[in-house]
Parts: sequence; C-alpha cells; structure tokens
Amino acid sequence: MILVYLAVIGFFLLALWVMLAPLRGAPRPFPENPRPEELRVELEALKREAKEMSGPERVRILKRIAWIERELGVAREREAERAARPAARLPAWGLLLLAAGGIALAAVLVHYTLPRLPGGAVTEALAVEEAKRLKELLAKAEKENTPEAWLAYADYAFELRDLERAAQGYTKVIELDHKNLKAYRRYGMILFFAGRPKEAAEILSVVTRVDPDPEGLLFLGNAYFQLGEYERAIAAWKEYLSRGGEARERVEGLIQTAEALLRAENPGEIVYAEKCAACHGAKGEGGIGPKLAQNPILNAPEAVAEIVRNGRGTMPAVPLTDKEMADLLAFLKGL
Ligand code: HEC
Repeated sequence: MILVYLAVIGFFLLALWVMLAPLRGAPRPFPENPRPEELRVELEALKREAKEMSGPERVRILKRIAWIERELGVAREREAERAARPAARLPAWGLLLLAAGGIALAAVLVHYTLPRLPGGAVTEALAVEEAKRLKELLAKAEKENTPEAWLAYADYAFELRDLERAAQGYTKVIELDHKNLKAYRRYGMILFFAGRPKEAAEILSVVTRVDPDPEGLLFLGNAYFQLGEYERAIAAWKEYLSRGGEARERVEGLIQTAEALLRAENPGEIVYAEKCAACHGAKGEGGIGPKLAQNPILNAPEAVAEIVRNGRGTMPAVPLTDKEMADLLAFLKGL
C-alpha cells in the first residue's frame, strides 16, 4: 500500500514539474543574438549617416547595413518559422495535458485506494446494511408493538452503539413489560456510556440484585469507580467475577487499580492508578505496556514526561497538568 502512496505522490510531483515547465521558459541561445529592435535603431542611424558619407567610410557603413539587414532577415524568418510551426508550441500544451491527465489519474488513484486502507469501503457498505436492518427491526416493532420486537430492535441498536435508539427501544420494552430485567440493565449501561454514572449506579444497583446476567455488575462497578467510590466498585466487580463474568482479566486489573487507589498515599500514585495502571499494571509490573518498575527509563524523567505527553507507538498521549506530571514522576521513581 505504501508503494501505491509513493507512486501517487511521485506521479503528482512529476505532473506538477511538467505543468510548471512552460513557466521555466525556453533555454536561451548561446551566444545571445543581438536584439532586433536595437539592430533596427542602428540601421536607421547608419542609413542616415551613409547618405552624408563617401569613400571607404561609406563602404564600411554600407557593409554594416547589409549585415544588419541580413541579421534582421534571419530574425524575421525565425519568427515566421515559429509562427508557421504551431507544433513548436504544442509540446507545452501537450505537457500541460499530460500533467492534467497525471493529476486526474493521481486523484482517481487516491480516491479509490485511500478509503479502502482502513477498511473504509467495507465499513461503509456494512453501515448501510446495518442501517437497513435497524430500520426493518423498527418497522416490525412498531407494527407488532410487543416487548420481544422492541427488545430485538433495542438490542441491535445497542450492538451498533446507537445508544439513543437503543434507549428509546428499551424504554418501549419497559413500558410494555415492567419486569424486563435486560431492558433495565441495558438502560443503566446506556446511562453510564452517556456520562451519567450516578443514575447508572442507581438503576444498576437495584437491577443487579435480581438480574442473573453479570453484565450489569461490571457496569455498576464502572459507575462506582467513576464516582470515586472504589470500595463499592471493587465489591461489584468481585461479584461480577464470582458470577462467572467473561471479562475476567480486565476486571481483575480494574480491581487492582481500585485497590491501589484506595491505598494510595501520595497524589502521584493516584495519577498512576488512574492514568497508567490499566496498561502498565497496578504496580508497574507491565501489561499491554512494558514493565515500568525498575525500568532504566525512569532514570530519565524528561524522557518519561515526553512519552506521557506525546504518546509512543501504541501508547496514547496522556494529557496531565504540570502538578500531576511532577507528582507522577516522583511516584514512578519509587517503583
Ligand atoms: C493504553 C495503554 C497505555 C496507557 C494508558 C499508558 N501507556 Fe505507557 N506504554 C504503553 C505501550 C503499549 C508502550 C510501548 C510503546 C512503544 O514503545 O511502542 C508504552 C510505553 C511507555 C513507556 C516507555 C517504556 C520503555 O521501556 O520504553 C513509558 C515510560 C510509559 N509508557 C509510561 C506511561 C505512563 C507514566 C503512563 C500514565 C501517565 C502511561 N504510560 C500510560 C501503553 C500505555
């Protein structure tokens, strides 16, 4: 793919170079021809002089006149030749056309190759397909108006992370079936996604008491965690694990992070637990990201700060205030 890009860029540069060719001008003849207008002025002067002259001086002037007339003739011929030979101008136009063609080709290449890179064309087709299916499910739900039909619609919208439609669907389900636990649970999860952890926790803490599906507990823990209620978050997550929740590894990491936050004695530890532990482990032992404990890079705090500020490879940039950064670096030293 990189080769295609390079080819496109190369082609574009070539096309640009070719396009600008007329601006660069024709090569100058060497040695330069005397300019016709100068010669003509001299010719007039010589002709006037010649009338008054006689003898060898007059001969010298007439010779010069003859030479100038010949030069002017050559120049005129050259001009006529150029005018009569439009082909001589054609290359510039031809090149221009070629350049336009090149740019068009580059544009076409870019258009057809770029979107496909991140799976654009495929994603687009899929999105159309999904939207169609969602519409069908909505039509069916409106026609039948049963909790099952609305649930199918809401679940599909939820799967597509179309949370607004999902919320509308689950609301319908609850209207028609007051005891539908899944609809309540999903509604609570949507509240969490919508950045309303307090309301999410309120709903999920009730639902999870009777709901056999552990999914709600995971999000109850998430909501408590976001509210800074780490003990409750840990309890919810532990319950999730004991009920056989699938995201075991991730939730264990979350529990460790919450425990570290509970234990945290210095502000740097809190920053670390919140912003780094998920990838580098609760104690810097490594995870998705490399091990940080005893990592020689910690001897170069500027390098660490640089990595945190700008990210590196698959590590995202982590924006921190100056104070948070200073606290974090102090904490990392002791890892
Ligand atoms: C989303 C996961 C993620 C988060 C969050 C994250 N990192 Fe990283 N970090 C990584 C990955 C992955 C690498 C390896 C990057 C590479 O070199 O390609 C890395 C590399 C590093 C390195 C370089 C290690 C080495 O040996 O070269 C340091 C230092 C580091 N991270 C510190 C931090 C700190 C401090 C934080 C919190 C402010 C943090 N990271 C947050 C994933 C993360």
